[in-house]
Amino acid sequence: MGSKNIDWTTLGFSYIKTDLRYVSHWREGAWDAGTLTEDNQVHISEGSTALHYGQQCFEGLKAYRCQDGSINLFRPDQNAARMQRSCDRLLMPHMPTEQFIDACVQVVRANEDFIPPYGSGGSLYLRPYLIGVGDNIGVRSAPEFLFSVFCIPVGAYFKGGLTPTNFVVSGYDRAAPNGTGAAKVGGNYAASLLPGYEAKQQNFGDCIYLDPETHTKIEEVGAANFFAIDRAGRFVTPKSPSILASITKYSLLHIAEHRLGMAVEEGDVYIDRLDEYSEAGACGTAAVITPIGGIQYNDTLHVFHSETEVGPVTRRLYDELCGIQYGDLEAPEGWIVKI
Ligand SMILES: Cc1ncc(COP(=O)(O)O)c(C=O)c1O
Repeated sequence: MGSKNIDWTTLGFSYIKTDLRYVSHWREGAWDAGTLTEDNQVHISEGSTALHYGQQCFEGLKAYRCQDGSINLFRPDQNAARMQRSCDRLLMPHMPTEQFIDACVQVVRANEDFIPPYGSGGSLYLRPYLIGVGDNIGVRSAPEFLFSVFCIPVGAYFKGGLTPTNFVVSGYDRAAPNGTGAAKVGGNYAASLLPGYEAKQQNFGDCIYLDPETHTKIEEVGAANFFAIDRAGRFVTPKSPSILASITKYSLLHIAEHRLGMAVEEGDVYIDRLDEYSEAGACGTAAVITPIGGIQYNDTLHVFHSETEVGPVTRRLYDELCGIQYGDLEAPEGWIVKI
């Protein structure tokens, strides 16, 4: 038990109110200095574009308690940059990288007691969001915007941690070829609720989306990116303009190439050629690395390494990534903001 009387061993991925969150408003062309508040309710105009037209985006990143008691924030500059790209797509003002990172640091410091202890496997998940607010009714960009960051302590996203999970290929699309798939915007997730629900009803961890143009190539695994290890030992991950550029995935690409000496490739992963791969996984801030046991496509379950055991390459990638995040291994330059 930690100082907040939380049982760190049973933490999953659920909302709990923490002490303070950060809020900043954009009015008349500028963000204010921002402040911390105890209030976890958002008071906005009923005409807010975020409510009617989905003009909003969000991010997800984590802070980790290290063995020496210090705190590691993992690659917040990448989340700031991705939020700026989401804002471009939805005609919203950028939150500058410096203010974004400062907001995250303030929230971590203010909720330090909620950070799961080193060794518990947990972390503090930060959820920045930026939404269109203010009085409005027409389909246009909002007159004002609100940026906030809150946090929750989390454990494993998919129950079982490094235990393989099975996924099912969805008949739905999460994105259109020139749509908003590459932006982290709520509309994509609203559209994923029904496919995700149907997959879970069939006892799968989530669903796999194919490319919306040809429906022949893997794009995403629920709210995570996909990677596989091919029979030549290469790290392979899909490249497409309609998937979200996962910060975890790009970190794994770097780790595979520069630390594990593997060949890497961003390219096509055809759903009817899964035999070419010996291991597969889902990766993301929340999912970390979730080994994929099997993929159900049409009426066949294709099993990769095993439905019960994580594969050896996936485990090495996981150990290296977590070692960097928890401060046990030296991080590549610029990956960690020390708090
Ligand atoms: C649709 C989708 N794909 C992939 C990811 C993984 O991205 P990241 O590694 O930056 O968390 C996420 C989560 O942010 C997501 O929502």
